Amino acid sequence: MKRIVILASGTGSNAENIINYFNNSNLARVTYVLSNNKDAKVLDKANRLNISNLSFKKDDFSTKKTVLNLLKKEADIVILAGFLWKIPANILESFPNKIINIHPALLPKYGGKGMYGSHVHKAVVANKEAETGITIHYVNENYDEGAIIFQAKTSVDPSDTPDEVAAKIHVLEQNNFPQVIESVLLKMEK
Ligand code: GRF
Repeated sequence: MKRIVILASGTGSNAENIINYFNNSNLARVTYVLSNNKDAKVLDKANRLNISNLSFKKDDFSTKKTVLNLLKKEADIVILAGFLWKIPANILESFPNKIINIHPALLPKYGGKGMYGSHVHKAVVANKEAETGITIHYVNENYDEGAIIFQAKTSVDPSDTPDEVAAKIHVLEQNNFPQVIESVLLKMEK
């Protein structure tokens, strides 16, 4: 049974979806939810879904090995679901091609530092893009630059507001992220 640890900074709709998806799986389970934001709603969701969880501070993540040691103990794969911090080198080295992120745009467009959540959707609308989508990719030392695993697209209507674009992205994420994680885990089994 593969162990999934989720890192998230915000609401947690992806984390909840992934937890529920693997609840009845023979392949994997979500063992922990970790957040760099002690007030993140994702922690409330983890409590409600009876998933171990905790929040951590910057030095627990970058200087001390608190998070690294917990991941080594609890994770076979690390999922970033709305996690806003860069992953430090010691964690990247300990989990080669085992850290996956979801980004709410068609990378390499609308990626990088500061490009998250509504900032992305506002930019997509401002640039009158005809389509947008999601990108699921491996994580490396740079924001949103790791090898792409999966992308899915949705059209953007000229009248769409950033919130309407966000809603379309949410549907793509809910319908694809757990399945892509599952396909990566199945490849890891081989
Ligand atoms: C998602 O849109 C994801 O693509 C992005 O951050 C958002 C997190 O949403 N990286 P939630 O916290 O999972 O609801």
